[in-house]
Amino acid sequence: MSYEDAVMRTLLALVEATDPAPHEGAAAREDLRQLAEAVAAVSQAYTRERDAIDAGATGEAAYRARRRFYLPRDGAKVVKPLVELHRAGALPRGPRWRVLDLGAGLGSTSLGVAATLLHLGRGGAAVPQVRPDEGSQGSGSATSPSEREVVRELRVDAVERDAGALRHFSQLAAQAERAGLPRLQVRPLAVDLRKHVPEGPYDLIVAGLVLNELLAEPPAQAAARLAGLVAQLAPGGAVIVLEPALREPTRALHQTRDALTAHPDVALFGPCVHRAPCPMLAGPKDWCHEDVSATLPDALAAVAREAGLRFERLTYAYLTLRRADAPADGVGGGASGVAALLDPGAAEGAPHRVVSQTLATKGKREWFACGAAGRVRVTRLDRHATAANAGFERAQRGDVVRLPVLAPGVTDLRVRAESELPGWFYPEEASEAGEALEVGHRGLKGARPGAAD
Ligand SMILES: C[S@@+](CC[C@H](N)C(=O)[O-])C[C@H]1O[C@@H](n2cnc3c(N)ncnc32)[C@H](O)[C@@H]1O
Repeated sequence: MSYEDAVMRTLLALVEATDPAPHEGAAAREDLRQLAEAVAAVSQAYTRERDAIDAGATGEAAYRARRRFYLPRDGAKVVKPLVELHRAGALPRGPRWRVLDLGAGLGSTSLGVAATLLHLGRGGAAVPQVRPDEGSQGSGSATSPSEREVVRELRVDAVERDAGALRHFSQLAAQAERAGLPRLQVRPLAVDLRKHVPEGPYDLIVAGLVLNELLAEPPAQAAARLAGLVAQLAPGGAVIVLEPALREPTRALHQTRDALTAHPDVALFGPCVHRAPCPMLAGPKDWCHEDVSATLPDALAAVAREAGLRFERLTYAYLTLRRADAPADGVGGGASGVAALLDPGAAEGAPHRVVSQTLATKGKREWFACGAAGRVRVTRLDRHATAANAGFERAQRGDVVRLPVLAPGVTDLRVRAESELPGWFYPEEASEAGEALEVGHRGLKGARPGAAD
């Protein structure tokens, strides 16, 4: 099972335990109908203007839809940015993280962080105690974390202008530990995120799908705002910004990322493997986003069907930032960017990120990759498919691959039968966390709904 699938299931179990719904008969059918109606209404609201979004996403019916459908689904969007940090040995150490969640809503992003830590074997009640000398030394091993890597508690400053949404967050957070997740202490801050003055240092700052609210200003100003957040990080911390995979918010994210290259105190950890200007901005129509395969849990798939929503994959755009002076070794240190996910001992070449789907035409396949020299079209004739270049076949949008360095101005690369294509390929499997998942779900069965804020 992928980390995304495991996280969605853990979050759904948390939601169901705190707000049980009828499972059989006419009551269950009516519940599904009402929920699907509310989900469809929230979905429509998100396609409208800002004021309509706010009106459509608040109120008890909307909260129900957000809690029971959107929270487990969207909580999984923070998974891959966290897995990248983890694999690069760049997640902060435990036992306690201070988290700032901007536009927290009902808590999807913070709860997604907690569930990801659980499945990475890096956080929660279910992760066994390990003596300091038994564990890994911060290189990202998920199977035997040292005790200093394990996160037992998240203290979340939740900035959200909708106090109703924050009430739901606090209620869900109160049950997190029983679900085997790290304990979640939420400090609700019902204010406008643009006016909020952060009280760092934070181990993690997340801004999940706040719909361009952070990036609405001109890129230089938005970059200054994000650089200000980076300055609020503890030395090994990270800022993760998630946006919907829509053209305008994502291009705003690219522009802000380009403007951030002028800030010497900011390290651009991901998704880009370089600090050169974003090639997507050369034309007016391109944008770069993630597209991760995931399988909705049955209960969510039924709601999506009834609401007429098409779910195929998790799509979003993101930016992960760290301090340029992050410590270079140990947990919370490590690499300054996703290029470090590549095996340093592999063949020569330059890091690239795959930025398109594979296009198959008669007799050949191709995809595009982004590197320091710009965008490259990578093509392989079907008759040249070999075990050596199996990485070409495996590569999907968002993977990090090593490609040969091309002459200046050349933007086409032909993969030959003997070409090697090393890379870091996603999705990863969450199998090592299976035991933790079991314990988490068993723990939840005894949980009672209606926990106090
Ligand atoms: C789409 S929801 C995302 C919630 C959650 N972060 C997630 O990833 O699912 C956006 C949330 O941001 C909040 N929000 C938008 N603009 C805001 C602002 N200027 N200040 C505080 N909260 C804001 C909205 O009220 C809403 O709850």
